[in-house]
Amino acid sequence: MSQEFDIVVIGAGPGGYIAAIRAAQLGFSVACVDDWTRRDGKPAPGGTCTNVGCIPSKALLQSSENFERAGHGFAEHGIAIGGLSIDVAKMLARKERIVAQNNDGILLLFRRNKVTPFHGRARVAGRSGERWVVAVDGPGAAELAATHVIVATGSLPRPLPGVAFDNLRVLDNAGALAIAEVPKRLGVIGAGVVGLELGSVWRRLGAEVTILEALPGLLPTADEAVAKEALRSLTRQGLAMRFGVTVGAVGAGPDGVDVAWRDADGSGQQARFDRLIVSIGRVPTTAGLGARDIGLALDARGFVEVDAECRTNLPNVWAIGDVVRGPMLAHKAEEEGVAVAERIAGQRPEVDFGTIPWVIYTAPEIAWVGRTERELGAAGVDVRVGSFPFTANGRARAMGETSGFVKIVADAGNDRVLGMHVVGPMAGELVEEGVVAMEFGAASEDLARICHAHPTLSEATREAALAVGRRALNI
Ligand code: FAD
Ligand code: NAI
Repeated sequence: MSQEFDIVVIGAGPGGYIAAIRAAQLGFSVACVDDWTRRDGKPAPGGTCTNVGCIPSKALLQSSENFERAGHGFAEHGIAIGGLSIDVAKMLARKERIVAQNNDGILLLFRRNKVTPFHGRARVAGRSGERWVVAVDGPGAAELAATHVIVATGSLPRPLPGVAFDNLRVLDNAGALAIAEVPKRLGVIGAGVVGLELGSVWRRLGAEVTILEALPGLLPTADEAVAKEALRSLTRQGLAMRFGVTVGAVGAGPDGVDVAWRDADGSGQQARFDRLIVSIGRVPTTAGLGARDIGLALDARGFVEVDAECRTNLPNVWAIGDVVRGPMLAHKAEEEGVAVAERIAGQRPEVDFGTIPWVIYTAPEIAWVGRTERELGAAGVDVRVGSFPFTANGRARAMGETSGFVKIVADAGNDRVLGMHVVGPMAGELVEEGVVAMEFGAASEDLARICHAHPTLSEATREAALAVGRRALNI
């Protein structure tokens, strides 16, 4: 006998759990099925983001940044620390506690919003009249029936061809967030977001880190000046990066991982690492969902095919987040989750991919929204640009974090803000002003005329906006 709902959401990552809550707020009866399980067997909703992504990586970034500051940053403040050490087990236990708080928080939100959680693996079994039947296997085995299904099954790390993750020597993101002791030599394949963030964590704790990247340069989608400054800062911190690399044989054994590669100039290289993080992107999760049996269309790369409003080819089946096209970001998944719930309720929300911010939580942070000067140039848009360095910002000087700048790109004709690019302290917080400006169709002059508190990092944004009109005041 099926349990009846208006909507069944499959997956409780940031896409799924937010979709479930918004749908419940709108008056629907909602079930949310998720298979993530804690070591003690309990459900661990929150998906990749909460369990092995955004949240634990930021916990370790914070711990390692504190260690780095205590070791190298405090001395200039007159603070001397003797006998500095890192207890990795304690650091990892703190990370696990934060993850568990977030898991529990989502279960609490489900209770508050009357979302019914199911713990197990969901398969769309077929139609029963106008309703979809969803079979749940696992601890919370059940049969559910619903008018609408929202697929929010997320993504998994992409392995190197022929090299399986063992999470002992060859690590995916989960393994890279759980290394029990600081490796002496850490290899990282892929200088993308995971490689830079987790490479930074273990570098700050003392590992020698070598990052091997296939592309000829760092962060090709970022603003060129931002990428250049990021490369300078990260290299200065000791991250050894090699670009234009072709990775060859990878062999894991009891003493380490041997990696062979060809450098950009064609020369053959070889190194042994204690651990190897493979962070070369992620692939959509559709295994076990029953996609083929019900005729759910996937694209050539395995993503669930959706239109601009997250509708699949099947009636009342929607898909959101990492399992569909677009950036693999938690906040993009959330936006799509809210939008689908509201569309089911007959509303007409919009998700604008053009104003989704990117943040890379290295030190300095890297963040941007909108298009780069180069992209706009290539599209034939005339722009005016203003930049302001943190070396000229009083708060950044007081913090001792002066590397980087804010850059604002505006339309040369009507002055509308088309992009904001930041490398520097708290870039991820600062960029939100650019998101708001773009969403409201603001001109750079609007930003320049808004009062910003002194002394704050956000004054650098105002100065960059003033610089668009060639009238920065503090430089
Ligand atoms: P997921 O979070 O992957 O959740 C999908 C859930 O569905 C999982 O729990 C999965 O087990 C479950 N599931 C799958 N199939 C089934 C099934 N058949 N039945 C039941 N359950 C199923 N993004 C950011 O925006 N900011 C960051 O700082 C950030 N940091 C990251 C750091 C790392 C190391 C990684 C790997 C990713 C990071 N991301 C970050 C990306 C972010 O984690 C993803 O974009 C986000 O989690 C996608 O959300 P989702 O809901 O689509 O899927
Ligand atoms: P990524 O797509 O960011 O980077 C992968 C990198 O690996 C690319 O630079 C690519 O050129 C390189 N690469 C691919 N194949 C290679 C090969 N064979 N040899 C050498 N280099 C190779 O993917 P990543 O870092 O795995 O992260 C996955 C996703 O998770 C990201 O796209 C991002 O959306 C999300 N994420 C977001 C974070 C944030 O918002 N702060 C943090 C971490 C992850």
